[in-house]
Amino acid sequence: MTNETLTVTDNRTGKTYEIPIENETIPAAALRKIKVDPDDFGLMTYDPGYGNTASCKSAITYIDGDKGILRYRGYPIEQLAEQSTFLEVAYLLIHGELPSKDELERWENDVMHHTFVHENLARMVEAFRYDAHPMSILISALSIMSSMHADAKDVQNAAARKKQVLRILGKLPTVAAFAYRHRIGRPYNYPNSDLSYTGNFLYMLDYMKQTHYEVNPVLAKALDVLFILHADHEQNCSTAVMRNIGSAMADPYVAMSGAAAALSGPLHGGANEAVVKMLGVIGDEKHVPSYIERVKKGDFRLMGFGHRVYKNYDPRARIVKQIAYDVFKVTGTDPLLDIALKLEEVALQDEYFVSRKLYPNVDFYSGIIYRAMRFPTDMFTVLFALGRAPGWLAQWLELITDEEQRIARPRQVYLGAEERAYVPLGER
Ligand code: SDX
Repeated sequence: MTNETLTVTDNRTGKTYEIPIENETIPAAALRKIKVDPDDFGLMTYDPGYGNTASCKSAITYIDGDKGILRYRGYPIEQLAEQSTFLEVAYLLIHGELPSKDELERWENDVMHHTFVHENLARMVEAFRYDAHPMSILISALSIMSSMHADAKDVQNAAARKKQVLRILGKLPTVAAFAYRHRIGRPYNYPNSDLSYTGNFLYMLDYMKQTHYEVNPVLAKALDVLFILHADHEQNCSTAVMRNIGSAMADPYVAMSGAAAALSGPLHGGANEAVVKMLGVIGDEKHVPSYIERVKKGDFRLMGFGHRVYKNYDPRARIVKQIAYDVFKVTGTDPLLDIALKLEEVALQDEYFVSRKLYPNVDFYSGIIYRAMRFPTDMFTVLFALGRAPGWLAQWLELITDEEQRIARPRQVYLGAEERAYVPLGER
């Protein structure tokens, strides 16, 4: 018997069981052997929110929540944010290695030549009310793209998978820009593949037929780094949805439509929008202490604070905070930043937050930057989705090629009624 096992005694029967330990986990299926009667179902684990359950084996992203470590394919997020580009990071996440110069050039060219969307999709955006939430448009756009690319359903075909990856990475910024232009009632700017990924995105958002329009390089760089910081985050809520839908062998467009729907929730990717609204409600630094007291009473949560995994400062939040200063040099500062800094200062000295290991997460400062760049608040989660797209795709590709993966189908603890006979309406 190796010592890489768990010896479990079932006190109901006195029987002991040897359960193998692998990668700091035990196979949940081993618990099914623990029974009182031979025809029992056996034991399961009960884990609402899956906070203690490994759903897959992955080689993409490593997080150490206690130490505040985040690495994509082994590379520290701080080095990637400092030295890489978003498309290079997307390549790294999807292919597992940093590209050579030629590989990167080919990859950038391939993505930037898949930026045009079907005209039917452009018209679909116009079918929404001008003030429709752009996440609704993005979620719908991914679904309509599924109907436009039938080859996507052949998920076992590597070439078909690669094609959808390029289409999604290329077209999502165009969808986001069209949603924004529809919102402000301005004509679409069609993609310009001569520009960088974020440069083209900013161009599609802002170009108003100026004769000498130029993308601001500081803002394009800031957006590029923000996308890097959002690119993947192991088995977060939306990625788990991408994997769940993908496990049914549905195509990556509808899987990502579901992932984007999960991301739109205020506890997940919608938090950056909620942070800016919260800072607006606080209104002034002098109201921070009273607001914190209401959070501690449980009236509401401090949006942008806390994390299921990070029990230390989210390493991404530290980098985002630095980007804010770079952006403000171009856009001018924002009073909300002063409120956010005061909020962080007060919260990090307060026992309520310290004892619960609640620190700023990636959403705490990102919304302030997006606002300074004049994005409407309801575009913030769309920006999160643009950043997260390569992570969702990398995780989906890993799932599809993982021999151990099966269709997702959790079990339950049934606490409902025992069998009972139907009572006809006249007798109730
Ligand atoms: C993202 O998973 C990912 O990786 C996500 C993400 C990614 O990149 O994909 O990192 C992106 O979603 C970041 C998180 C953005 N969400 C928010 O900022 C919303 C506010 N944060 C919380 O709602 C909360 O912190 C969660 C949802 C992020 C995490 O919740 P958990 O792990 O389920 O924590 P919990 O609900 O069990 O709370 C533990 C305690 C509770 O207090 P007690 O009941 O023990 O007294 O901490 C409290 C909670 O009330 N708490 C908070 C709080 N977060 C947790 N109290 C006040 N403000 C908060 N923000």
